[in-house]
Amino acid sequence: MSKPKVLVTRRVPQECLDILKPHFELEHFNKGVAIPRKQLLKSVKDKDGVLCLLTDKIDDELLAAAPKLKAVSTFSVGYDHIDLPACKARSVNVTNTPGVLTESTADFTWALLMAAGRRIVEGDAYMRGGKYKGWDPLMLLGTDIAGKTLGVIGFGRIGQAVAKRALGFSMRVLYYDTRRAPLEAETTLNAKFVPLDELLRESDFVSVHTVLDEGTRHLLDDRAFGLMKKSAYLINAARGPIVDEKALVRALKADKIRGAGLDVYEWEPKMAPGLASCKNAVLAPHLASATLETRIKMGQMAASGLVDGLVKKVRSPFTVD
Ligand code: DGY
Repeated sequence: MSKPKVLVTRRVPQECLDILKPHFELEHFNKGVAIPRKQLLKSVKDKDGVLCLLTDKIDDELLAAAPKLKAVSTFSVGYDHIDLPACKARSVNVTNTPGVLTESTADFTWALLMAAGRRIVEGDAYMRGGKYKGWDPLMLLGTDIAGKTLGVIGFGRIGQAVAKRALGFSMRVLYYDTRRAPLEAETTLNAKFVPLDELLRESDFVSVHTVLDEGTRHLLDDRAFGLMKKSAYLINAARGPIVDEKALVRALKADKIRGAGLDVYEWEPKMAPGLASCKNAVLAPHLASATLETRIKMGQMAASGLVDGLVKKVRSPFTVD
């Protein structure tokens, strides 16, 4: 019997391919850039499964071009690039990679927070630029982190892992979500559920960890930046469009807030005009889950999602509903 056909849309860790290869006839776009849309639509024509990335839109057009498709597995925890109702309507199972990137993403959120708050990137440029002429009491002053207030927007796995790290910095933690977390989580993490506006007014660091959907698009806009403290920082390692990036540039340039640490962008991979010249922003190219260990686990999990659906024909534990 012939093996099910699977398309892999990007270069991925070898450990991911090691799981796929024995089970599938693979077509692999083995490059470090997104597969061109035209090629994607052509390649899915005869495929039973697709292992995709957050840069590949899985929408009605793609599903219509892939009449045999039964499973889509995304090499990401986020699935805002996938039209779930459209997949459901065509009985295409969707899996993702939850859990395995929680800690690396929380670590990176803190790296951004600390880099922005303590001006590490500016300091690095200062050294390399030969500007350092000796210790100076007023040089590159940042802000204290220990003892401050952290506001976490979106208190799921990653938001809670970020809050957990704040315990070590003796911070007050506020959180906002559409649903209140179980009392046990609040108690363990010493986190207080508050309305969004209160979180924005009171936090020294506002960190975004919610999903992107119609309810969260531009959740952080001119109004939100107007509510934040002038001394506050915005950290976003979730999804770019949750922040109105043009409004953020205005806020950073007008000193409405003190700084930002960003890993994601509204029009990724592009940045809003003016953002690159904001010295009070630390900018990373979507690196939050980018550790060798995590990316291997993500690859293995994404591959297993396809094996579950197309070979074992069981409901994968990583199914997204
Ligand atoms: C995800 O998995 O959704 C991240 O954005 C990339 O790790």
